[in-house]
Amino acid sequence: MLYKTLKPFPQNFLWGGSTSAYQFEGAWDEDGKSPSIVDMYCHPEDVADFKVASDHYHHYKEDVRLFAELGLKAYRFSIAWTRIIPDGIGDVNQQGLDFYHNLIDELKRYDIEPIVTLYHFDLPYKLDKQGGWSERSTIDAFVRYTEVLFQNFGKKVKYWLTINEQNTMILHPGAIGVPENGKLPDKKTLYQQNHHMFIAQAKAMQLCHTLCPNAKIGPALNITSMYAETCRPEDAIAAHNWETIRCWSFLDTAILGRYNALFLSYLQDRGLCPTILAEDLVVLKNAQPDFIAMNYYSTATIAASKGNASDISARAGDQQIMLGEQGVYRAAENPFVDKTAYGWVIDPIGLRLTLRKVYERYNLPILITENGIGAPDKLNADNTVNDDYRINFISQHITQMQLAITDGVELIGYCPWSVIDVVSTHQGYGKRYGFIYVNRGEFDLKDMKRIKKKSYFWYQKLIKANGQLD
Ligand code: BG6
Repeated sequence: MLYKTLKPFPQNFLWGGSTSAYQFEGAWDEDGKSPSIVDMYCHPEDVADFKVASDHYHHYKEDVRLFAELGLKAYRFSIAWTRIIPDGIGDVNQQGLDFYHNLIDELKRYDIEPIVTLYHFDLPYKLDKQGGWSERSTIDAFVRYTEVLFQNFGKKVKYWLTINEQNTMILHPGAIGVPENGKLPDKKTLYQQNHHMFIAQAKAMQLCHTLCPNAKIGPALNITSMYAETCRPEDAIAAHNWETIRCWSFLDTAILGRYNALFLSYLQDRGLCPTILAEDLVVLKNAQPDFIAMNYYSTATIAASKGNASDISARAGDQQIMLGEQGVYRAAENPFVDKTAYGWVIDPIGLRLTLRKVYERYNLPILITENGIGAPDKLNADNTVNDDYRINFISQHITQMQLAITDGVELIGYCPWSVIDVVSTHQGYGKRYGFIYVNRGEFDLKDMKRIKKKSYFWYQKLIKANGQLD
């Protein structure tokens, strides 16, 4: 749709930036923190692990100062469960609480709204050893952990996100590491874990509303739109199959409090249905999210399954590269879009489409909690980083956001991934996303100096102009 006039970004729009604890903090075993699964799992040997990351734990004041100078209105970060309750269920670690109190106070000093993710991939390793999300007891452990957070930070934090990208953890479990025995859980186990996460999330949302009546909470999923490769009806069905399994099934359960019918049929037919207790259905129904947090990177193009093993792509999949599934869908190419150096489709218009679909389906405010371009940024001899590709990527997405707002979507904020360089989930430190360069190599930690990239100055201007740059 073309418009004569575009609606402006709302005055209180949350221009922000994102990180997650394990990819940013480092200090993996300091001040009482215990290891999480990402500390202990196996990762590709040629890339950095998460033990030091960007050493934010020791640089948080400097980092927040840089965020403030950038003009951020909001900062989305996650809390590490392993800092707060090191063994997952037992004693609370005061030093962990202190770190996040200090961080939040520092943000507030500069009027930056903290947006807190309760859980971003980093399950306590001790809980994993006891069965992790396969066990119902992990639901109770999670709820207790969130209770500690709501009690301690509830007066300071207005925006909470439940579980980051549950769909990535279930559909692409290898993206966040592989257990020591080299074996990822089978699909049946993964869908049981998925169900337990749904219940844990629903309980956390309810608890948040009880303990922090002024706060808002919502799920944070990796959402995208699927295009059919051709106008063949079979391709349209395949695209709808995969869009439902990958996106709507997760959002429907989180927002509408019930399993999606197509998803349930898919699970039942393949013997993948989890054990669902009668009381679970009540818990799901009673959770009332206030908004939807959405991570958007790419769209995907889908063709009908050929019904044999050729449906599964030969290239390695990850959270944005579709793999294919026999009898469900096949990944296809889109000749109308570019790709990043890491093979992720670049599709700003797809963001507008996805925002429209999500809003139309759920009618809740939307907060974009991730969007960005990973690139092997180069630090020049004069200490500059000319990341014009990042400026292009983000500005094109912001243009589409404004169109979506004009379409009628209630978009409340934008937190690109990542405000500063962090370690990628499975592609190390060379794959950078930030507006701020951190001077470390893959293995050589150098001096960790923070250096403003070209995109930093551009984003600063954009925020000042409330998104309206010529
Ligand atoms: C999202 C995750 O899937 O994508 C982040 O929530 C992640 O944790 C981001 O870092 C970018 O992915 P990657 O694999 O390039 O680090």
